[in-house]
Amino acid sequence: MHSFAYKNGSLYCEDVNMADIAAAVGTPVFVYSKKTIADDLADFRNAMAPLNAHVAYAVKACSNKAILNLMAQQGAGFDIVSGGELWRVINAGGDPTLCTYAGVAKTEPEIRYALEQNIYCFNCESENELREINRIAGEMGVKAPVAVRVNPHVDAHTHKYITTGTNENKFGVDITRIEEVYATIAAEMPNLHIKGLQMHIGSQLTEKQPFVDAVVKVMPIVKKFMELYNIEFWSIGGGIGIVYDGCLESGKPEWWEAHPEQITIQSYAESLIPLLKPLGIKILIEPGRRLVGNAAAMLTTCIYEKKGEAKTFKMIDAGMNDIIRPALYEGYHEIWPVKEHQGDDIVADIVGPICESGDFQAQNRRIADVKPGEVLAEMSAGAYGFSMASTYNSRPLAAEVLVDGDKWSIIRRRQTLEQMVADECLPE
Ligand code: LLP
Repeated sequence: MHSFAYKNGSLYCEDVNMADIAAAVGTPVFVYSKKTIADDLADFRNAMAPLNAHVAYAVKACSNKAILNLMAQQGAGFDIVSGGELWRVINAGGDPTLCTYAGVAKTEPEIRYALEQNIYCFNCESENELREINRIAGEMGVKAPVAVRVNPHVDAHTHKYITTGTNENKFGVDITRIEEVYATIAAEMPNLHIKGLQMHIGSQLTEKQPFVDAVVKVMPIVKKFMELYNIEFWSIGGGIGIVYDGCLESGKPEWWEAHPEQITIQSYAESLIPLLKPLGIKILIEPGRRLVGNAAAMLTTCIYEKKGEAKTFKMIDAGMNDIIRPALYEGYHEIWPVKEHQGDDIVADIVGPICESGDFQAQNRRIADVKPGEVLAEMSAGAYGFSMASTYNSRPLAAEVLVDGDKWSIIRRRQTLEQMVADECLPE
């Protein structure tokens, strides 16, 4: 459950009126609830408590220093995908020895940096990558901890751009070849230490069955590898979906009727624990979206309205450069007026200032008839919101704010125009 709700006609994040933040900081601004993040992390841990399970937060979902610091303070590990993310974790006070490093195209400088920082494990995605890490570790005189990402060929029933666990995807080593690859590591790569096995079948999964299918399918291999290589952990990846529509409901969730299959942390844990517990192996989980997705809203101001022949448009001061999910994945985010409206809903497209028809945050949406100058909150913007933002159309990056009870702090100042062009220069 998250911490956004109307009180006295205005939308609050915890005990802070979002209108006050918009007035003080301007828009667009991402507003995060500390309580929601801490609660979701605690829920994960409690639900998985019967296992020897550890959370490695997927940094890519939201990599703001303050959010990483919050995760570090709560003792979370981190799932990283670049040298940049490793640097961010360390810079935010995170422990590099709790980092697992995934990604299909790790470069030599990144591999060296990760070895110097003594990360927990590389999650490797191909034999050539394993050979490269073996070579570099040999040169550095160290043994590199590795796991291989097995691609179990299970359909995650999610958007095609965020499905990763089928043999159509670039990720991991096919399940039919995984044993051969581990045998090759053991026989030919003396500078690698086989530490575990990893998998991840996709993101925004709303059903538990694909997770169960993948675990059942990979289980015999894990058992074998525990015997053959004495592996220490099995990472079952991330991907647990959140509710994007009706996300403001709290208490007994009203959306439940519309989403009978909707996965929860509890249903995820309850379906996997009986399968995993008998193994007795350390389990890593790599949630990103589930820990931060519902924990933020992006505030944006309505600038103009336009009634066209076919449609009504509300133009806002945030674009696909600020949140790209609707344009890229047909993502759905609830949009709520910060000042509560009563019964004046219309159907409109909520569009941004960018010169592209794909620049919309909502299409044909039933929404309050907000007027220019009013502030809107785009909900569930915490995961893959700011972290995917760009300066396209020369729009400086938005600000970010963290709410804690009745207090709030800026955790990223709005980018200035000078900062936006600071690294550009004319040719000699
Ligand atoms: N582990 C691995 C190896 C991953 O590739 C990912 C996400 C995660 C964990 C975390 O997945 P999560 O728990 O957040 O679903 N930008 C897209 C999502 C891309 C996910 C990429 N990998 C979106 O906005 O929907």
